[in-house]
Amino acid sequence: MANLDLFSSSNQPPGQQNIAGAAINNVANPLQQRDALHQQLHYHAHRYYVLDDPQIPDAEYDRLFQQLQKLEAEHPELVTPDSPTQRVMGTVLDGFASVKHAVPMLSINTETDTEATGAQNFDTRVRKALGLGDADPAVEYVAELKFDGLAINLRYEHGVLVQAATRGDGEMGEDVTNNIRTIGQIPLKLQAPARPAERGSLLGENASTLPIPQVLEVRGEVYMRRDDFEALNERQREKIARGDKGEKTFVNPRNAAAGAVRQLDSKIAAQRPLSFFAYGVGEVVTADGAMPLSTHYGLLQALKSWGFPVADQVNIAVAATQLIAYHQRIAAERDSLPYDIDGVVYKVNSLAQQQQLGFVSREPRWAVAHKYPAQEQMTHVLAIDVQVGRTGKLTPVAKLAPVFVGGVTVTNATLHNEDEARRKDVRVGDTVIVRRAGDVIPEIVSVVASQAPHARGEVFTMPHQCPVCGSAAVREEDEADYRCTGGLFCSAQRKEAILHFAQRRAVEVEGLGDKLVEQLVDANVIRTLPDLYRLGLTALANLERMADKSANNLLQALEKSKHTTLPRFLFGLGIRHVGEATAKELARHFGSLDAIMDATVEQLLEVADVGPIVAQSLRTFFDQPHNREVVEQLRACGLSWAEGAPAEQTPKPLAGKTFVITGTLPTLSRDQAKDQLEAAGAKVAGSVSKKTDYLLAGTEAGSKLDKARELGVAVIDEAQMQALLAG
Ligand code: IVH
Repeated sequence: MANLDLFSSSNQPPGQQNIAGAAINNVANPLQQRDALHQQLHYHAHRYYVLDDPQIPDAEYDRLFQQLQKLEAEHPELVTPDSPTQRVMGTVLDGFASVKHAVPMLSINTETDTEATGAQNFDTRVRKALGLGDADPAVEYVAELKFDGLAINLRYEHGVLVQAATRGDGEMGEDVTNNIRTIGQIPLKLQAPARPAERGSLLGENASTLPIPQVLEVRGEVYMRRDDFEALNERQREKIARGDKGEKTFVNPRNAAAGAVRQLDSKIAAQRPLSFFAYGVGEVVTADGAMPLSTHYGLLQALKSWGFPVADQVNIAVAATQLIAYHQRIAAERDSLPYDIDGVVYKVNSLAQQQQLGFVSREPRWAVAHKYPAQEQMTHVLAIDVQVGRTGKLTPVAKLAPVFVGGVTVTNATLHNEDEARRKDVRVGDTVIVRRAGDVIPEIVSVVASQAPHARGEVFTMPHQCPVCGSAAVREEDEADYRCTGGLFCSAQRKEAILHFAQRRAVEVEGLGDKLVEQLVDANVIRTLPDLYRLGLTALANLERMADKSANNLLQALEKSKHTTLPRFLFGLGIRHVGEATAKELARHFGSLDAIMDATVEQLLEVADVGPIVAQSLRTFFDQPHNREVVEQLRACGLSWAEGAPAEQTPKPLAGKTFVITGTLPTLSRDQAKDQLEAAGAKVAGSVSKKTDYLLAGTEAGSKLDKARELGVAVIDEAQMQALLAG
């Protein structure tokens, strides 16, 4: 539990007006104390894990928890399986017991047709099976997310979790109760619904008044959030780096979740961050034998009121058109969800209609899954190339046997940098998993099969020469990337550099796009930027597929681009770290290109927005004679812009001040904060001393905060830092 500052509501747990443990001790016998503590702890765990809205500080929760532990130690007879202390069982199993499902766990038919026909076919089938004619009203559906985790059946008897089982073959599953109990989002004890569901968009039937059934089987998906998955893998990598032999990284969130659920040692399972969404029920037994609900939507609301997480994206949809709209909306949201989904599910909303529709083989006729293109596929590595980007960055890229993944055919996948390539140990001939989520560059997740060790090629190493121009490739300290030092003379960088220079936001050469640049560079017509302005009609007309008219248009566009502005020209040069905003500031500050080219690092640092990294990058660029040559030639070709006098020097607001940064800031990374402070003239040091003027502290600040307090150093937060920057 980490959020200490969220005292968001004055609601008290049901029936409890006083959460002070002391009061519980004083008023009650051990049994009453236990029940009171259970109630408190269940209530606060639900607020924390499910509603994401804790009401008491972590320390207070821990205190109540310890109080219960103490009570249970003194009175072992009071320990029950639903006790909050019983989430982690100490036992290591030899294997999992088999469980026969009271109601079989079915799978859903997947509609593989195109978007429109898929939903339409389903609606048509449902209407036909219900005997509805054209004149009958539209069928109401519930559209939900199809979570990419693993299905679990949770059995509650008299409100207490007694068993959790995997789906297995649908008839028989595995008893994974111990591991499932470790998942904070899964209630050990159902909440007696006291008031309507606290959050979310689930309205509809008034399920909040439903009593807890005698037997309730809740079905849903155990999954791992993407951020939890990344953090878990990071921890795993650290363990591996420390030489922990038995550890490995996980391929994707689903595998990590499945591995955790099927872990025989529940202590290990408890360390894997799992989450849960409820989407249905299995066996339900109520006092009067029936569930007083008529819709699936109402059922989801009831599940929510009993304490289960239900996804917010649940929608009621009428007829196929709205199902299609849902499918499209979720497709657009897919990449920004914090967890993986592999599609959406449509379900007939009316439970009576569901019953009427029944099942075919082992699939319900009332539900269908409508998938999205898979985000991971297997293929093999044909080669590993090193590509050179505009700024000279060398990127190892795996050339793949073409594979359809995430909606497109992929033939290249990035290996990011040398360290990543080595860590994944991808080699030619290996079978690999490629992941492409959204418009993110496809990447290699892992090697699934490699040749026999002795037959494998060498471990990947980054060349120390640019593979294209032969210039030295260097990796600077604290950087993950190698860069070609060839600058604009490196032919691989040329295409990118020309496109960058010609883009709309730089000098803008209309009509000079990818294809044409490629042609011009490959035909060796253009070697440097100035060559662009030396193009003649003959050279252009000689290019394949280039008509006189287009050649003339290009020449005109080039002519037009000669009249530009200093910021556009400067940005167009493609100097590392010099974006549009920085180019504008530089132009404003120095007034002329010569002044910028000749400025020292110290002078550059006086520009608002310019920190040490940007200043050094400018200096490095203009220190290269060939880059100056390019600038001179462009001027000689007729490129021109208005120049002005240098702007008034504005003193830097934080000149002479020393800062130390600690903890996690709300919006900035520590590096970003450092850049901003340095740009304002401040010095950023690594440790707190008497010379420190300010400690910028975020959450989870440690010893530096203590030291600052001890020395009486001013402690500020990010907002206060922004105020200082503003002067
Ligand atoms: S309903 C009778 N709803 O998809 C219908 N299943 O083949 C039973 N799944 O592995 C399933 N999200 O775990 C349903 N919103 C959702 C779901 C969902 C994911 C999984 C389920 C099973 C598979 C069904």
